[in-house]
Amino acid sequence: MSTHIGAKPNEIASTVLMPGDPRRAKYIAETYLDNPVCYSQVRNMLGYTGTYQGKRISVQGSGMGIPSLAIYTTELIKEYGVKTIYRVGSCGGMSPDVKIRDVILGEAGTTDSSIIANTFGPGIYYSPIADFGLLDAAYHTAEDMGIKTKVGNIFAADRFYNDELDLKKLTDYGVLATEMETAGLYLLAAKYHIRALTILTVSDHLLTGEALSAQDRETSFDEMAKLSLTTAVN
Ligand code: ADE
Repeated sequence: MSTHIGAKPNEIASTVLMPGDPRRAKYIAETYLDNPVCYSQVRNMLGYTGTYQGKRISVQGSGMGIPSLAIYTTELIKEYGVKTIYRVGSCGGMSPDVKIRDVILGEAGTTDSSIIANTFGPGIYYSPIADFGLLDAAYHTAEDMGIKTKVGNIFAADRFYNDELDLKKLTDYGVLATEMETAGLYLLAAKYHIRALTILTVSDHLLTGEALSAQDRETSFDEMAKLSLTTAVN
């Protein structure tokens, strides 16, 4: 096993779906995968492997924020040879063009996290981006499934509660929504030469104060899980 994942070698598939909430990992595995096997319960950050339409897929919780996601992502890649990661999660809408319940494909990740500066040093403002092949595939798979998607820049906030951040400016510069992980995932994907894509549903909106009910969260999460699994097997 690795430091934070209790799986033996070969217990994790080369394609991984990564929700922030470990209970969502359990839900996806038990609802959609055939023969799901739980390979890790370390810190309750659950991970499962099973098959979807005959293809081996794993589902691993990442926790909230770049520091937590970076632990699981790095170990998945370096210790278990993972090659493709789909982050599936929720986000807060920022742009007026984005509505509650929308599905967003993260084309790029902006962040106020120090991970970019820690990687490149002062003066370089690297732009973490999605794998274009996965983005293209998810976009067209969504079209085929009758799911409308928006594609754009996602702001990975370093703090969930931050009233000092200029959200309006980010929105004016085209950022669609905020969550806390995507820029870190895309940076690590670039570092280790793997493929990554974030698929999000808008669970709340920073402009309107609207938020999805628990029931609507479940339904929209299901749509996103099916989209990522269908993209992963095609
Ligand atoms: N994830 C879902 N909604 C969010 C928000 N408003 N801010 C950060 N992360 C989120």
